[in-house]
Amino acid sequence: MEEYICRIKDVCKEFPGVKALKNISFDIKKGEIHAVIGENGAGKSTLMNILSGVYQPTSGEVEFDGKPVHFLDPKAAHAAGIGMVHQELSLAQYMTVAENIFQGHMPANKAGFIRRREINRKSLDILQKIGVKNISPDILIKYLSISQKQLVEIAKAMSLDAKLLIMDEPTSSLTVDEIDFLLGMMKNLRDSGVSILFITHKLEEVLSAADTISVMRDGEYITKLDPKKTNIQEMISYMVGRKEEKSYTRSFMTNVESKDVVMEVKNLTVPGKISNISFQLHRGEVLGLTGLVGAGRSELLNAIFGYYPNVQGKVLLEGKEVRIKHCKDAIDKGIALVPENRKELGLFLKMSVRDNMTIVHARQISGKVFMNVKSVESLAEKYREMLSIKTPNLEQKVVNLSGGNQQKTIIARWMMHQPKVLMMDEPTHGIDVGAKQEIYELIDSIAKEGISVILLSSELPEILRMSDRILIMHQGELRGTLDHSEATEVKIMEYIFDKETAEVS
Ligand SMILES: Nc1ncnc2c1ncn2[C@@H]1O[C@H](COP(=O)(O)OP(=O)(O)OP(=O)(O)O)[C@@H](O)[C@H]1O
Ligand SMILES: [Mg+2]
Repeated sequence: MEEYICRIKDVCKEFPGVKALKNISFDIKKGEIHAVIGENGAGKSTLMNILSGVYQPTSGEVEFDGKPVHFLDPKAAHAAGIGMVHQELSLAQYMTVAENIFQGHMPANKAGFIRRREINRKSLDILQKIGVKNISPDILIKYLSISQKQLVEIAKAMSLDAKLLIMDEPTSSLTVDEIDFLLGMMKNLRDSGVSILFITHKLEEVLSAADTISVMRDGEYITKLDPKKTNIQEMISYMVGRKEEKSYTRSFMTNVESKDVVMEVKNLTVPGKISNISFQLHRGEVLGLTGLVGAGRSELLNAIFGYYPNVQGKVLLEGKEVRIKHCKDAIDKGIALVPENRKELGLFLKMSVRDNMTIVHARQISGKVFMNVKSVESLAEKYREMLSIKTPNLEQKVVNLSGGNQQKTIIARWMMHQPKVLMMDEPTHGIDVGAKQEIYELIDSIAKEGISVILLSSELPEILRMSDRILIMHQGELRGTLDHSEATEVKIMEYIFDKETAEVS
């Protein structure tokens, strides 16, 4: 029997001005979890898009299940047995779970009507096969949580009995428990003979789940690694090449409480989401905001940003109460938000990188004097460099950037705007290990300039490394505040879990 499910031979892919893949060759064994790692823009998603029929290679060949294949579209790849879960989820919000799973190959009766009962039953089978119990096939996608959507994507990818399942950063928005579940599910699928290509920036996951690791850099295949014989340091060194590794430590603020209060939140409540939240934010402070996913952290930031109509309580900016009815009010008052879901909430995909970066800043300065195109241009160039955004030029449409570089573009937009208060919701999601340092450095430098930052993150090491103080939320409430000098992972977890046990007993 053939040992490999898929053999990639000398594959190249060129886009205008970009050589995204250069002579990539490697093999994927039957029944293995094969991790592909590399920096933002290394070419991981492009390669997966070729395997799944989204793009055709410029040259080279792909062999699948013993035969050369030339997929002209994703449908053809899916029918051949390659299922793909995209980096940005692609489900239709107003269709049911079952309709999404069978999208593109919906069984219909002679009159052309969808056989609803049949797709519901089959969807249930697939969901059960991957071990998912609590998602009903006839519910609309828009009512599901991110992790549930992720699971539906996987069910969809598996709906035609995939032999190769491609997962592009499936864990980036999941909680620790959900990640455990997903990795367990991947291992079960592997044991049943499915091969999985797994892209992630979380290198611990690679060590715990992968059977083989492939490293890519700048469109090239660098090396194959055995997870039993490698470690995170070695993986990083192959990912970044000879470049010097930056490691960055903040100089923390002392006596935070004695500094000017820039923003004060008093008894902020959004029924059903957050209750009675009060805190102060000081000038130049980085205030960490953490807790479990679902604790109400994003809801708190969204409430401050004018996202909900039914907010109770007050927000004071520099001592004066401000009424924020709409995001525009917030921006005008000097509050900015880097949202978690860049595609839905932030980027204009068809517009250029430059316009996406400068859209808020340009509007702000054009209201005052005439707009100096040159200065906007050079500012955009400065941020492109500081964040090392990988793009042939600033005219490139954002839709053509890699996921991590899209994220950097939106961070640049809000940093450039120079707000009084910059709120960031999971800013390093999908950002490679090296580029995280650059973002940390930028956060530190804008804080030094006097901008106050609220940093929402689920990664405790990130929170501890960056925050002058830390707010801990749980179940819609503020459970505690820790100063940098006393904060540890254990202390943060205690705030979350002590209450939990206390409530149960
Ligand atoms: N449709 C396209 N048109 C032009 N350039 C593209 C297109 N798609 C990808 N690229 C470029 O190809 C390179 C590789 O991008 P790719 O999305 O494969 O990176 P990645 O490894 O998945 O990165 P990330 O970790 O940030 O998701 C990048 O420089 C990107 O800008
Ligand atoms: Mg990608």
